[in-house]
Amino acid sequence: MPTDQRPRPPVPVIIDCDTGIDDALALLLAVRHPGLDLRAVTCVAGNTDVDGVVRNTLTVLEQAGAPRIPVARGAGRPLIEGVRTARHVHGHDGMGDLGLPAPARTPADVDAVTLLRREILASPRPVTLIPTAPATNIALLLRTHPEVTRNIERIVFMGGAVATGNATPVAEFNVWHDPEATAIMLTAGVPITMYGLDVFQRVIVPGPDVRRLRASTEPGTRLAGELLAHRGPVTDEADPGGGLGDAGAVCAVADPEGLTTHRLPVEVSLAPGPTRGQTVVDRRARPGESELHGGTREQPLVDVALDVDVARYVDLYLTAVERPGGRATM
Ligand code: RIB
Ligand code: CA
Repeated sequence: MPTDQRPRPPVPVIIDCDTGIDDALALLLAVRHPGLDLRAVTCVAGNTDVDGVVRNTLTVLEQAGAPRIPVARGAGRPLIEGVRTARHVHGHDGMGDLGLPAPARTPADVDAVTLLRREILASPRPVTLIPTAPATNIALLLRTHPEVTRNIERIVFMGGAVATGNATPVAEFNVWHDPEATAIMLTAGVPITMYGLDVFQRVIVPGPDVRRLRASTEPGTRLAGELLAHRGPVTDEADPGGGLGDAGAVCAVADPEGLTTHRLPVEVSLAPGPTRGQTVVDRRARPGESELHGGTREQPLVDVALDVDVARYVDLYLTAVERPGGRATM
């Protein structure tokens, strides 16, 4: 029986972000990849304050020549913790202090949770949520409007780590920023993919490609190059390439075959102390003494990314972002 050769209709997606250098790279891909239909963007405090995130998000969409995709302001701080930004990585303005012009557009006149509920329930086909930030907005959405899960295809979130953290030795920044929110998201009852640091840190665009993007006359393409060239505090200056970061999670939605995942129990460590915010991924082949002596609870099963086809995602990103004429044509 011949397989259906008709092209798959674009996947409806919503990004929840803390723009952010790499959130900006993710937005550029989402608006330019023909297989994605970016329905809305919601903003949360993380890399910088939430108003800075809104400003940066609107600026990136305008630079990309994106249509008037609704952008809404969300939580200004995590559920429990205070705001602990990452300006040392993303610059004071959260966008590498590139001096980009202020956006002409203003955000939607509704808050992020309201926009998320509206756009998810209004979508004719189930939506894929792509959180690339602390999960505060997603947790508030799930607690306020749990009915949205009936029209969510999957959550593909950038966060967590199987092995090593960045905010702490064991915790990744987005989860560390709001661990309770991530724990709520993992128990949403919809399929979830964890795009963690283990793959996040590997997808690097080579230096020559970065230089080519920076030399482009197309504003969105040039912006991608400038963002990729931004040097974080801990960077191998010998390698002039640039990490895709959050954009890798968008690649995973556009091309799931490029990611290798295993469905594993994941627990977020909430206890105060050195492990708070750690995503404890259980890779054991069988239960241990803890389970045998009744000492553990059922953990949510998550499709955890364990490997990534780096060249495939770099090529996907460059092809989409350098698309002639900028925006997707589908
Ligand atoms: O740990 C990396 C994550 O934290 C990325 O999403 C980055 O943008 C920051 O939000
Ligand atoms: Ca981010």
